[in-house]
Amino acid sequence: MENKPTVLVVDDEFGVLQSFKMVLKDEFNVLLAATGADAIDLFNKNAVDLVLLDILLPDINGLDLLEKLKDLDSSIEIIMITAVKDIQTAVKSIRMGAYDYIVKPFDVIEVLKVIKRALEKRDLIRKVIYLKNELVRFNYFEEMVGQDEKMIRVFELISMFSQTDGTVLIQGESGTGKELVARAIHNRSNRKDQPFVVINCAAIPPTLMESEIFGYQKGAFTGASTTVIGKLEIANKGTVFLDDIDSLTIAMQSKLLRIIQEKEFEKIGSRKIVKLDVRFVAASNKDLLQMTAKGEFREDLFYRLNVLPIDLPPLRKKKKDIIILVKHFLELYSRNTGNPVKEISREAMEVLIKYDWPGNVRELKNLVERLTTIVKGSVINLADVSLLTNRKKGDIQGTRLKEAVNLFEKKYITEVLEKVSFNKGEAAKMLGIHRNTLINKLNELGIKF
Ligand SMILES: Nc1ncnc2c1ncn2[C@@H]1O[C@H](COP(=O)(O)OP(=O)(O)OP(=O)(O)O)[C@@H](O)[C@H]1O
Ligand SMILES: [Mg+2]
Repeated sequence: MENKPTVLVVDDEFGVLQSFKMVLKDEFNVLLAATGADAIDLFNKNAVDLVLLDILLPDINGLDLLEKLKDLDSSIEIIMITAVKDIQTAVKSIRMGAYDYIVKPFDVIEVLKVIKRALEKRDLIRKVIYLKNELVRFNYFEEMVGQDEKMIRVFELISMFSQTDGTVLIQGESGTGKELVARAIHNRSNRKDQPFVVINCAAIPPTLMESEIFGYQKGAFTGASTTVIGKLEIANKGTVFLDDIDSLTIAMQSKLLRIIQEKEFEKIGSRKIVKLDVRFVAASNKDLLQMTAKGEFREDLFYRLNVLPIDLPPLRKKKKDIIILVKHFLELYSRNTGNPVKEISREAMEVLIKYDWPGNVRELKNLVERLTTIVKGSVINLADVSLLTNRKKGDIQGTRLKEAVNLFEKKYITEVLEKVSFNKGEAAKMLGIHRNTLINKLNELGIKF
């Protein structure tokens, strides 16, 4: 059958069936039935979009057939065909769910109008149902879970921004999902089959940064024994993710600015200009605007990056999401380990909701992972959770000495650092340790600022 809506006409008068067929056949697939039994048979065998139904049938009352068809498919639209003397019954049929009725002898134009309106209504209802499903699906977006309005907004921004080539700046505390967002933007863009290259500005020492990003020509400097392709070149046609962009030295910031503006660069040790076709996504867990005010980040680079901004809320500001995130990670670890999904008691969940999550979603994910390995039974209880989250309230019973010492050191060092406005030299002096020892400790304890 052709790709036209299908209309089933049910009437016991041969002449009526034929005239409907004449009127409808250009725009619809037309099925004809002279009895109720035939009608149900055809209805079951075909994807019928609309039924025209005579109220008077030999083997069944039209109203009963109406009910039967609605039982088979509650979304089917039915238009009753009636004689003038039967108007009362037709009105009753509307109360029973018929869309409308037409009176014999019918007017062709009128019939077509009614049918089209009925089909439009059906399409609309389908669209609404589809949209509702889309919204439900929004709890899962790429690999992200979220139903807090702030996250729904983030999902909308990702959808929009991924359709453009503009530079995106993602800001948010550590562990809020900045890298996930960057990957989601890439995966939804038309660059998705090209590389997604991460340049971790904090992890690469400043002295190696340049060769890492730009690559170099063989013989460019002593020790350059081969030609090395830089990350920018590797990323060509794809997306470059500049992670922890706040860590770039001012000198590198200037170089990067030029590249973003000109979309080309010179390989170290060669005169060759490399043309770039990449989309930049940058991330920072520090307030870059504040850094520009202090002269620590170039203002012009900030505005180049901040074309399409996305701010990720910390977990304590989207507490609504804690429950679904916990469930999501419980399912994830059950899939990974092949064990059944663990339950979590209400009291335990309440503790998780109250906690303020300084390490955000990453901390929650790690906690759930530890819980799934520590807890042997099928339910995670209050006691299991308190052991892992209540420590900052001084309740360190059951914590190993080393862990307790770490906790104390972390707290104390952070306090000292705050006191001296995060000047590491000053802090080291106050703590009576060497500056390098302090820096090692900060790394070891995972203190970031
Ligand atoms: N909405 C979310 N749904 C599911 N998992 C999430 C969500 N947000 C973050 N995660 C998970 O939390 C962890 C941290 O996320 P991610 O690495 O993207 O954070 P980040 O903001 O880049 O942190 P950092 O600043 O420390 O690099 C990852 O394992 C990520 O999969
Ligand atoms: Mg990250």
